[in-house]
Order: sequence, then structure tokens, then C-alpha cells
Amino acid sequence: MPRRVARTVLRGDRRSNAVVLPDTGDWSRELASMGLSVTGIDFSAVAVAEARGLSSGQGTARFIEWDVNSDAAPSFLEPHSVDIVTCRLVADVLPMQRFLVRAPGWLKPDGVVHIVTPVRERLDPAQKHRGLMERQIAKLGAGWKDVHRYAVTADKAIEAIVLQHYA
Ligand SMILES: C[S@@+](CC[C@H](N)C(=O)[O-])C[C@H]1O[C@@H](n2cnc3c(N)ncnc32)[C@H](O)[C@@H]1O
Repeated sequence: MPRRVARTVLRGDRRSNAVVLPDTGDWSRELASMGLSVTGIDFSAVAVAEARGLSSGQGTARFIEWDVNSDAAPSFLEPHSVDIVTCRLVADVLPMQRFLVRAPGWLKPDGVVHIVTPVRERLDPAQKHRGLMERQIAKLGAGWKDVHRYAVTADKAIEAIVLQHYA
């Protein structure tokens, strides 16, 4: 996440927090390096153990086992307590519409959902099975008042979508 996005959302508040769904550790550590308090989620005990091991001693990210598709409310989250809920490189394997209906209940009033995804139409032929198609990306913003997109890579093959203020 570019620092300008973090600044816009967090207004320089270093106590701000992010939830990373799901994550094997790299993305959580990158966000933690910006000063965020980060919770990384994965349903794989192996992935969580690996993430904890690689992050030990850094004290900035915690990792919790949880199935994003679970019907249960995540016990580690208070309602409306999160500044950023972010998903990187997983939007093509998670049920995003279901997730996007639940996420507003986790966010603070000005919190955001931040999704990083390859744009399938812009990928090389060998990569065409990855990411989301433009029409799928367009659907992500349904019901959100503020929707922004920015390029993560120079060729725009990977983009980020930022959703704020669920109506
Ligand atoms: C591609 S990796 C995540 C990459 C990470 N977001 C990043 O940007 O570095 C996919 C991970 O998603 C986890 N995963 C897949 N479905 C999940 C679910 N329903 N709940 C929790 N974790 C899930 C897998 O265990 C795997 O570790």
C-alpha cells in the first residue's frame, strides 16, 4: 500500500490498525513497517506458524488462524474497530461479494477495504488464469460511496481498489 493511501486513511495516527485476509506474512510485515498494528489471518496452521516464526521479535504483527469463509464472527475483532481491511492477490479465490458485505461491520466509520489484484485482461497469456476480470473489479464497488483505483505496477497489470463508506 503506498504511504499516501495509508496517510489518507490514517491521518498519521500510528495506533491505526490493519487486518490482512488471508496472509502468509509478507504483506502483514510490510504494513507493520509503516507503523500499523497488523493482524494477519490464514486458515492454514502451517502458514500461521511460518508467519509467526518469520515475524518473531518484530512485535508489530500478530497472526491468527481463521477461515475467512466461516459463518462465525471473528472473535479477535471488535465490531467497527478496523482502519484497513486488506486482501492482496487472493480476490480470485475468495468469495469477494460475501466478504464485502461483512467487512463494513468490521470497519471504523472512515475505514477502508483495500484489495490488490492482477487485472486479467492486462496479464501475459501464460498468466491469464490469475486475478480478476474488469467486469468483476467493477462489481467490487457496488454499495460503496467512495471507490478509488490505482496502479500497483507500472504496466497496470496489478491494481489496488480502495472502498470507503459503505452505503
Ligand atoms: C496467495 S497466499 C496469500 C498471499 C498474501 N495475501 C500476500 O499478498 O502475500 C493464499 C493464502 O490464503 C490462505 N487461504 C485460502 N483460503 C482461505 C480462507 N478461506 N480462509 C483463510 N485463509 C485462506 C491459504 O492458506 C494461503 O496461505
